[in-house]
Amino acid sequence: MTVRRHLTQVDMAKIVSLSKRRGFVFPSSEIYGGVGSTWDYGPLGVALKRSVKEAWWRAMVLERDDIVGLDSAIIQSPQVWVASGHAAGFVDPLVDCKVCRGRFRPDHVKVYKVVGRGGEELGLVSAVGNALGEVTKEIVERGKAQAKSRGKEFGSLQEAGVATDYPAALIPCPNCGAAPGSLTEPRMFNLMFKTFVGPVEDTASQVWLRPETAQGIFINFDNVLTTTRMKPPFGVAQIGKSFRNEITPGNFIFRTREFEQMEMEYFVKPGDDEKWHDYWVRERHDWFLSLGINKDKIRVRPHEKSELAHYSKATSDIEYLFPWGWGELEGIANRADFDLKQHAKHSGKKLEYFDQEMKERYVPYVIEPALGADRAALAFWLDAYDEEPARAMGAASEGQAPGASDEARVVLRFHPDIAPVQVAVLPLSRNEKLTPTAREVHASLRKRFVTQYDDAQSIGRRYRRQDEIGTPLCVTIDFDTVENDNAVTIRNRDSMRQVRVPIAELPAAVAAQLREMGSTRA
Ligand code: GAP
Repeated sequence: MTVRRHLTQVDMAKIVSLSKRRGFVFPSSEIYGGVGSTWDYGPLGVALKRSVKEAWWRAMVLERDDIVGLDSAIIQSPQVWVASGHAAGFVDPLVDCKVCRGRFRPDHVKVYKVVGRGGEELGLVSAVGNALGEVTKEIVERGKAQAKSRGKEFGSLQEAGVATDYPAALIPCPNCGAAPGSLTEPRMFNLMFKTFVGPVEDTASQVWLRPETAQGIFINFDNVLTTTRMKPPFGVAQIGKSFRNEITPGNFIFRTREFEQMEMEYFVKPGDDEKWHDYWVRERHDWFLSLGINKDKIRVRPHEKSELAHYSKATSDIEYLFPWGWGELEGIANRADFDLKQHAKHSGKKLEYFDQEMKERYVPYVIEPALGADRAALAFWLDAYDEEPARAMGAASEGQAPGASDEARVVLRFHPDIAPVQVAVLPLSRNEKLTPTAREVHASLRKRFVTQYDDAQSIGRRYRRQDEIGTPLCVTIDFDTVENDNAVTIRNRDSMRQVRVPIAELPAAVAAQLREMGSTRA
């Protein structure tokens, strides 16, 4: 069923406010004033993220013969991170502004040349966070001020790269605009969180929290090979928390310091790697479409050679058009034999596959689709957001209070397999005649579907509440149900169509409607 969407781009503030109001995501440690950029998932948020993770696990492990699961530890031997390159190389440059105390990654700071009326260069201005590349009014004002301070007339601004292309001493602060000389030289900063195992805090007991789940898979390569009958091409999938002391976390749950990853390492014969890389890029792109992501808001972007991570032979990102511009959702890397060889070298253990038929031994190449669960949940959530004028959709006939039909209807059009609630059970009122039947109906549905029972306030308001959290179907129990026909009404979130169904046929009718809305599980 296709549904016309009324908004092309979602205002992030609306999502954050809906989140707080309805219990998707809360600022962590809020009663103590919060901790920067950490978030707690509320009842609906945890349901959404769980269903995203379950959809991934189903597609990657349960519905395939060639991939098995793993759950490795967050705290691993420090040698793991030496071998992987994270101990030495997982660093970001950082500059501080001595005036406003702002802290920036210079590669995130955009630099513009100030050009005078006569075409002469008058210095630089900088900005952070304008991912769309737009030249904001504020930057133009700074450009004008620069020109004025040189006694010249301002002409235009020209995009001139990022701050890492210039000595820090030439760049004005991107936050407060302080003159060149205010930023410190870049310092390298390791993104891994350190902690200590046991009571003594010395270098011998120092460990790191894992910054990615991937390495837990590589160090278990031999365990999986010897305990399963897997042979290349085969994969190992894992979902779990990762930690990075990000310098510039932000955009809500898009970039945080504690996040969940869903990673799969696919081991293939060298020479077959490019074919499998193409396969996984297509497969992962199509997975998002299969869960309803708008095809115009998702794209594949192959990395330039200069962007490639130290381990990567080739990488393609799947990007989503977030409200602030295109952003990475998932990376699909061809890691070649880098990791297995590194761990073999550092551990002294052979990490190879012996092909019995061909009588040959080789170190498999690895294709890695790596997705953030939080970022994926955010993309599905933003993509589902829709607003429509209620009057046009006939809300008055759904029992709205007078005037309420003028309000816009907020609807999250979640795919039914990832909606936090699939079916809401709503007795028309709290009347004691209705409650027992409504409870029975709920009991019969909750075994098969994710359900919610709601009997507070008017039915119109309850429909609105369910639309706002993206519940595909509402089942209403009214006086006719108990006095006449033993049937209930199913109301569809997208079509607003209402159908009367005998209670005995309800689970099958709910499943049929969810399938019609795209479910492959109902
Ligand atoms: N093993 C490869 C790897 O970790 P990555 O591109 O650094 O690659 C993979 O991370 C995915 O994890 C990203 O595409 C993103 O979805 C998610 N991710 C990475 N850093 C994140 C952060 N700070 N906050 C939320 N998600 C993050």
